[in-house]
Amino acid sequence: MTTLTAKRILVGVSGGIAAYKSAELVRLLRAAGAEVRVVMTPAATRFITPLTLQALSGHPVRVELFDAGAEAGMDHIHLARWADAVLVAPASADLLARLAAGRADDLLTTLCLATRAPLLVAPAMNSAMWAHPATRDNVARLAARGVTLIGPAEGEQACGETGPGRLVEPPQLVAAVAGRFRAGLLDGVRALITAGPTREPVDPVRFLTNRSSGKMGYAVAAALAEAGASVTLVSGPVALEVPDRVRCIRVERAAEMAEAVRARLAEIDLFVAAAAVADYRPAETAPHKLKKRAERMALPLVRTPDILAEVAASTRPPFTVGFAAETEDLERHARAKRMLKGVDMLAANRVGAGEGFEVDDNALLVVWEGGQAWLPRAPKPQLARRLVRLIAERYRERREGAPGTPASTGDEKDTA
Ligand code: CTP
Repeated sequence: MTTLTAKRILVGVSGGIAAYKSAELVRLLRAAGAEVRVVMTPAATRFITPLTLQALSGHPVRVELFDAGAEAGMDHIHLARWADAVLVAPASADLLARLAAGRADDLLTTLCLATRAPLLVAPAMNSAMWAHPATRDNVARLAARGVTLIGPAEGEQACGETGPGRLVEPPQLVAAVAGRFRAGLLDGVRALITAGPTREPVDPVRFLTNRSSGKMGYAVAAALAEAGASVTLVSGPVALEVPDRVRCIRVERAAEMAEAVRARLAEIDLFVAAAAVADYRPAETAPHKLKKRAERMALPLVRTPDILAEVAASTRPPFTVGFAAETEDLERHARAKRMLKGVDMLAANRVGAGEGFEVDDNALLVVWEGGQAWLPRAPKPQLARRLVRLIAERYRERREGAPGTPASTGDEKDTA
């Protein structure tokens, strides 16, 4: 099956009888997992209504360059940057001519000039117009600029003639778009990741927390998305921007984090626990601010749910990856913790002065059944990519039931 998970496809529709096929095209692109936005030329709106394509794409359809009613933050430049690929289908003879000339006289041609994403065009027109030297010339110029031409197909045309000029059928158009993307290591994988610290309230103004900055978890979320996974991040309070293409659910307490994870457990393939979850919370949260009285006071604490262990012990567990923070004897503790929690993979880092929390780089010892890899000190985004590569290898191995590749034992080579 063709997958376009989380890919952003801008569909351009120009005026021609084949414009009605763009409805099926949009539906199929979405079924393949893509996020779709549609831009039409004014002429296209005479063949198919923007409302139809709005309903199928789930977003307002844009026609005008200067559209006062456009969605906030989605002007033509944003739209051009947003797209991972632009597919114009159908592309009329006039549209090919305007693209070839580098015109920007409507929203669609402006976007085609402004985008850096690959441009694919699927021409559809009367076969005599297709054969005309002017069109041949335009097509040759577009191809020379790296534009991908899909079709046209041959066959009977709406005008009664037979020959090349039919729009390539929507399933083939979707396959052509998918072919433009290099297969990601985790294409189509649904990942859930926890990150950041939790806050366990003592009273309305105080809480117990830890020094986790969330940087490693956010970097792993970004690397998972980069590898093609669809990523949901359950995040404790941090001062970080949510990475591109990552859905974020914000929580505070360990119990809320556990609840957010449980609610999604049935629909995920991969779980990464990067959060520094408080292991204990105050047994009671005082309804009012606690007043100072005695010289000494004791705060009774109770255990919080162990989210990672709970996920690993569920009936149909996803592939689970945990983290561990250790101050000494990294390998022994990492192996013991992996077994204890029953997780597939565990990434351990040394914490202490200047290591682990609140720093921008880190090193990890990653252990799994029958293997381990040492990921040497590197900035967290780079380290996260290396970790995601290891996760993807083990994930595929388990899913495909393939015999294990020889376990890595030495330093992991960086091929990023
Ligand atoms: N974890 C979790 N829920 C908790 C506690 C921890 O999901 N209530 C996850 C963390 O996200 C991390 C791993 O479990 O992936 C860490 O396990 P933990 O037993 O807390 O290890 P350490 O933090 O290393 O602490 P300790 O050695 O004190 O047990």
